[in-house]
Amino acid sequence: MTSREKTAIELRSLSVTYRGGGKSGQEVHAVRDCSFFVARGDIVGLVGESGSGKSSALMAIPRLLPAGTLVSGQIFCDGEDISALGEQAMNAWRWRRIALVPQGAMNSFTPHLSVERHITEVLAHHLNMTKREGRKYASELLGTVGLETSILDRYPHELSGGQKQRAALAAALACRPDFLLADEPTTALDVITQKEVLDMTAALVRERGMGLLLVTHDLPLAAGLCDTLIVMKEGSMVESGPSRQVIDAPRHPYTRQLVQAIRGMEKMNEGGGRA
Ligand SMILES: Nc1ncnc2c1ncn2[C@@H]1O[C@H](COP(=O)(O)OP(=O)(O)OP(=O)(O)O)[C@@H](O)[C@H]1O
Ligand SMILES: [Mg+2]
Repeated sequence: MTSREKTAIELRSLSVTYRGGGKSGQEVHAVRDCSFFVARGDIVGLVGESGSGKSSALMAIPRLLPAGTLVSGQIFCDGEDISALGEQAMNAWRWRRIALVPQGAMNSFTPHLSVERHITEVLAHHLNMTKREGRKYASELLGTVGLETSILDRYPHELSGGQKQRAALAAALACRPDFLLADEPTTALDVITQKEVLDMTAALVRERGMGLLLVTHDLPLAAGLCDTLIVMKEGSMVESGPSRQVIDAPRHPYTRQLVQAIRGMEKMNEGGGRA
């Protein structure tokens, strides 16, 4: 095992199959034999069209897939095979070592709980903090993600989308995790807020030396932010490598198609600018 593998999340031949659902009852092979790394200090983008298996691969890491889902392969974190851990041991890794901002996080707040309750419950459960300690630390966390302390007393419906997303990030950062898994963290936001939240996330990740796995279907966005890109199609990894290389010299026809679509959009925008 190399030193890089000792400080990374590593997926080895991960496959995820959902047991037959719906009317047909057919199995869905959501992830097929995927192997990749997310090292500390690296921002890795997992991209691909809707349904390509991005969320399934990401949710397999903290083992939060629906009960009954078949998962094979191994997942290592800092050299330890976490796919072999019991549920209780795995629970100790969640939030503290590997934190998650799930897809649609901003819509997953409990309506009748204030922002303070959302964050302090994580702190009480995982760090044994008292209410008073929790409030103080929660206020610091909000500061870290650019929110004022007064947000603590607000309820989810009293926040903008960007504020909710920042609050979800604050909760994920609460236990100072080594790895952050973020699934489409800004998709529902306008382009400017999206950039602000992502730039801030990237800056925090770099400052703290965390590893970030960022799932998005937005290739240009991922290319601008990530060190490494992994492209998925129909459950399989079709390409991976340094972002620049993937964008400038895509090897797989599917990646070439994605990149050409971006180039086409850029040309249209330039043309529009000159008109
Ligand atoms: N709980 C489930 N039961 C059965 N099939 C599922 C389940 N969740 C996802 N799938 C299927 O697995 C495949 C991969 O889904 P997944 O959510 O991982 O894709 P994704 O790349 O994250 O898509 P999106 O960009 O739309 O979020 C899809 O065919 C999807 O319909
Ligand atoms: Mg998804």
